[in-house]
Amino acid sequence: MTSLEKLDDFLGRPLGLVIDGAEAPAALGGEFDVLDPATGTVITRVADGTEADVDRAVAAARAAFDGWSSLAPAARADLLWRLGARLEELAAEFARLEAIDNGKPVAEALAVDIPLCAGLMKYYAGWATKIEGETIPTAGGAPFHVYTRREPVGVVAAIIPWNFPLLMCGYKLGPALAAGNTVVLKPAEQTPLSALRLAQVIAEVGFPPGVVNVVTGFGPSAGAPLAAHPDVDKVTFTGETGTGRKIMTAAAGNMKRLSLELGGKSPSLVFADADLDAAVEGTFGAVFFNQGQCCIAGARVYVEDSVYDEFLDRLVERASRVRLGSGQAAGTTMGPLVSAEQRDRVLALIGSGLAEGARAALGGIEPAAGIGLDDGYFVRPTILTEVTADMRVMREEIFGPVALVSRFHSEDEAIRAANDTAYGLASGVWTRDIKRGHRLAARLRAGVVWLNTYGWFDVAVPYGGFALSGFGKELGREALDAYLQTKTVWVDLS
Ligand code: NAI
Ligand code: MG
Repeated sequence: MTSLEKLDDFLGRPLGLVIDGAEAPAALGGEFDVLDPATGTVITRVADGTEADVDRAVAAARAAFDGWSSLAPAARADLLWRLGARLEELAAEFARLEAIDNGKPVAEALAVDIPLCAGLMKYYAGWATKIEGETIPTAGGAPFHVYTRREPVGVVAAIIPWNFPLLMCGYKLGPALAAGNTVVLKPAEQTPLSALRLAQVIAEVGFPPGVVNVVTGFGPSAGAPLAAHPDVDKVTFTGETGTGRKIMTAAAGNMKRLSLELGGKSPSLVFADADLDAAVEGTFGAVFFNQGQCCIAGARVYVEDSVYDEFLDRLVERASRVRLGSGQAAGTTMGPLVSAEQRDRVLALIGSGLAEGARAALGGIEPAAGIGLDDGYFVRPTILTEVTADMRVMREEIFGPVALVSRFHSEDEAIRAANDTAYGLASGVWTRDIKRGHRLAARLRAGVVWLNTYGWFDVAVPYGGFALSGFGKELGREALDAYLQTKTVWVDLS
């Protein structure tokens, strides 16, 4: 069988939870439909996990913890490396699975989601053997040998969203497993498939049972009991800021450690001295990549007055070349949104903008026509102008293919507008003036600043937000630190 035939096999029957290395139906026997967002048809059904399943999964993760955390670091490294290598071999299968489940174009999943996820496993494989404490001389000179140990936090609950289903598994699992934690993973109800397939691959490459458990299900019935579970030591979450608040509250009971990667409303600043070709292409990607369903989407686009008209014309021209269609079809450059709910949410936000006086330079609230996929959750690439800071569409995260373009006249005005948000995830600056670029990098209130580029990620480079965009970096060494705790050991030498 080729790996794609295996995929048909995988989707040919309902999928259970993965607990202690075995596939299991939900305790209450429930299942829910998984839909293809390009057509609205049912792909398969998966187990509808609830509190009893969360209990079983957490117990399995707890039981596996002592063995996994005391395994030789080189053995953990070896397993993570093998997982990364196997994901590379299965790239075509996983890319197709993401296209079916999330709607994104296969080519994008092949270029971004799968290699980045595989790379994460290999990168954190390297860290597993480099987790080191320190020897600390006492400042007062008292005769003690003091050293620190870097220990895993324990059982980690990973609650993830639907925009990069496999990749988000990697963001959480890579550092959590390298550090010696065990995991209960709760994929988004819209996109549970790649996490379940990943669990099979994790078992296949030789991870012990119980190290990674997967509970599929909905936020209130599966996510909430996981976030509140008294035997979970840490929650790592990516998703909506409001959900992040609920998770913080739920985590308070036993003081769980938290990493929260939440919403954004990121600005892109285009100065008149920018390389406009690069700025148009970069801004297009910043707004429309992944159908705009990116927490880092640089959707608030501020353009210096003297190049505003030219920039807008060129951005409209670029976005009108988008080829909307099924992510599985060759030549598609933009797929559907993930769900009918998300499509309706995005259309409602566009509609609110138009009602408050914005103008659609491209797209709008009319359904995407003429693509032969009438039941799919499509939204046309949309560019709104005449937007003002007080509009709902300028304040709330859209998470769809919508650019909000306005003008500025001075650097101070640009920075004030950029920072006028309760979020603080990312930002972009397009200018040829190197001094201005660094000046703005210091003044932008956001966890990431991209100068003359947008949306680059690398496994070694920390990523995460300020303010309502959450806390706890992902990627790089900082993410590893977030899955470790420091123990101090005092030895009397007197
Ligand atoms: P969400 O934040 O509610 O869902 C993300 C994950 O959290 C899912 O696995 C969900 O089942 C789980 N969840 C939901 N409620 C929970 C609870 N009370 N306790 C524990 N887990 C819970 O996001 P949703 O509702 O899918 O999307 C709504 C909006 O959130 C989007 O329109 C978008 O603006 C934003 N969003 C932002 C993301 C980001 O990466 N910043 C990712 C996904 C959504
Ligand atoms: Mg929600």
